[in-house]
Amino acid sequence: MTSFPTLHDCDPGSDDAITLLALLGRRDVQLLGVSTTHGNAPLSATTHNARALLTLAGRDEVPVYAGALGPLVREPVYAPQIHGVGGLGGVPLPEPARPVKAEHAALALVRQLCAQPGELTLLATGPLTNLALAERLRPGVLKEARQIIVMGGSLESGAPKLGNTTPRAEFNAYADPHAFDVVLKAGANLWLLGLNLTRQVQVTRARARQLATVGTAAAQTCAALLDDYLDRIGKLGQSVGALHDPCTAALMLAPELFGWEAARVAILTDSGEGLGETVRADGEPNVQLVTQADENGIYALIAQALEQLP
Ligand code: BDR
Ligand code: CA
Repeated sequence: MTSFPTLHDCDPGSDDAITLLALLGRRDVQLLGVSTTHGNAPLSATTHNARALLTLAGRDEVPVYAGALGPLVREPVYAPQIHGVGGLGGVPLPEPARPVKAEHAALALVRQLCAQPGELTLLATGPLTNLALAERLRPGVLKEARQIIVMGGSLESGAPKLGNTTPRAEFNAYADPHAFDVVLKAGANLWLLGLNLTRQVQVTRARARQLATVGTAAAQTCAALLDDYLDRIGKLGQSVGALHDPCTAALMLAPELFGWEAARVAILTDSGEGLGETVRADGEPNVQLVTQADENGIYALIAQALEQLP
């Protein structure tokens, strides 16, 4: 069986949580570590959530490394209107069974990427501060990853709705644009899933029911997280959401579900109304920009993974 040695950097976050549980449900994924960042909620909450999800899955042996308290330059921004103040809405989870590791997430990323050059896939589903800190500590380290798959940005230039946090910026890009810039310039094998891609994978009540019928506690939790998310965006006037972060795991595991093209992408880091906007730029490609997704295939993959968990 093909094995995917994997690191997951995240800010759970309902869709981060579904990503992590889907990874844990796959026998072919060797999850070497979960690193946490500020993002949807403060670092203490995202770290607690990651540990609780591992306990839910019966996988407390996976190490959790707490990372950046805040962005490289700007002030932190959180997303309580989408994920609740604690990051996972009101969805109950078990008390975490294991403590967080003493090692900082950025140091753990450097150590693990250098220990297995060219072997590891790094999934990044939050602001990119930990990745940028790792690159600053050890320039070139992100090139040691076999593949880095980032959920962030938005490339629907000209579309009626570009961003989800400001009119022009996606949340992870906006929450630490300077870190995003470091990662875009690192010369790594970088795959980018922006809102232009994740909005093709819709979250609806029917999709929540699809996961609930899988029946395991992990699947019921994911269904509850989707329902909580739909309740919250409903209050903002939206009836359909997007399954952002799990697309990263699906791309690693089943690239045939996606289409992509090489592109050069840059991010605006000057303060002002464009802060955090990702744009196409001239020059050599620096990312594989994922442009097409098979929505049914992605939900089937997630449902199959959740079926394997308690
Ligand atoms: C991204 O922002 C967060 O709120 C989600 O977890 C996802 O990573 C979508 O813009
Ligand atoms: Ca996230």
